[in-house]
Amino acid sequence: MKTRFLNNVKIVSTGHYVPSGVLSNEDLEKIVDTSDEWIYSRTGIKTRRIANGEKTSDMAYLAALDAINKAGYEASRIDLILVATCTGDYRAPSVACRVQALLGLSERDVACFDVNAACSGFVYASSVASQMLNGGRYSSALVIGAETLSLYTDYEDRGTCVLFGDGAGAMILESTNEYKPADFYLSAKGELDLSIVINDKIAMDGRKIYQFAVRVFEESIQKIMLDNGLGKEDIAVIIPHQANLRIIEKAAELLNIDIEKFYINIEKYGNTSAASIPIAFDEYMSAAPRQENKKVIFVGFGAGLTWGAAMLTL
Ligand code: COA
Repeated sequence: MKTRFLNNVKIVSTGHYVPSGVLSNEDLEKIVDTSDEWIYSRTGIKTRRIANGEKTSDMAYLAALDAINKAGYEASRIDLILVATCTGDYRAPSVACRVQALLGLSERDVACFDVNAACSGFVYASSVASQMLNGGRYSSALVIGAETLSLYTDYEDRGTCVLFGDGAGAMILESTNEYKPADFYLSAKGELDLSIVINDKIAMDGRKIYQFAVRVFEESIQKIMLDNGLGKEDIAVIIPHQANLRIIEKAAELLNIDIEKFYINIEKYGNTSAASIPIAFDEYMSAAPRQENKKVIFVGFGAGLTWGAAMLTL
């Protein structure tokens, strides 16, 4: 049997950036046949932020800078930059390379690349960063989720345009000799008949995604808890991908975990894909006293289909 080695990583800092432009449900009522009542009751969303000329890499950089500044972190220590995104500025170069340049780290030895696992991207990127830190060559990883979904949103399709927004979140992880166990569960079910796709525009089968999401949220959280012998009392917070409030509530109910354990900010930002978990995590870290050595769980799902969960130690 294969032995499973737990990763060990330290969360050094978090940050986020959202553009200032606000698109409210009332604004959407003027564009498509919808209502604030319909949107809020079906999704929990009131407003989303929309980029105005900012590229994904600009938002990623500003989120990174926020994380760096909050901890007074020496940016030159960063030797790995990973950006979870499916809305990069270009097909190539990566957003990660742009962030390296914007941070003034281009002359340093830094591994930089993007991870595309759609809305599960930040869970995937956190796992990749952690494995690389535990591999021994890298010691400081800047992990970012950043998206400009507004560029791909069809503002004539009321079934999708009410859901999505823009933004970026960042987390700095370091290798450590302290006992800070981390574990990751990633999975996918590749589809030929795409139930959610971002091509020129976002298209999806909302009902199918909804049912899939509730199931994988429940299963992923259960798995990461079981694999690590965690009880509810060990968990400081669960940071779910913010796609729909009802999906989170239903999963919490099925898991019999108090909804208060879930950090939820979907009302303000809508679904920002790979950025939603790190934005929410930064808001949580900025607001709540750090419960040293308690666990944080990330859980995400997205196009692919992809899904997964991460366990980190505060
Ligand atoms: N305003 C008003 N009515 C709307 C609407 C809107 N913005 N969008 C859809 N409707 C209508 C539909 O046309 C349909 O009308 P009909 O019954 O006359 O045909 C009715 O509302 C119900 O549509 P349905 O799609 O069944 O609604 P729903 O309760 O499943 O909610 C979603 C739709 C999209 C909110 C929900 O399915 C969802 O959140 N799915 C997951 C999507 C997701 O998370 N995607 C991202 C993955 S990372």
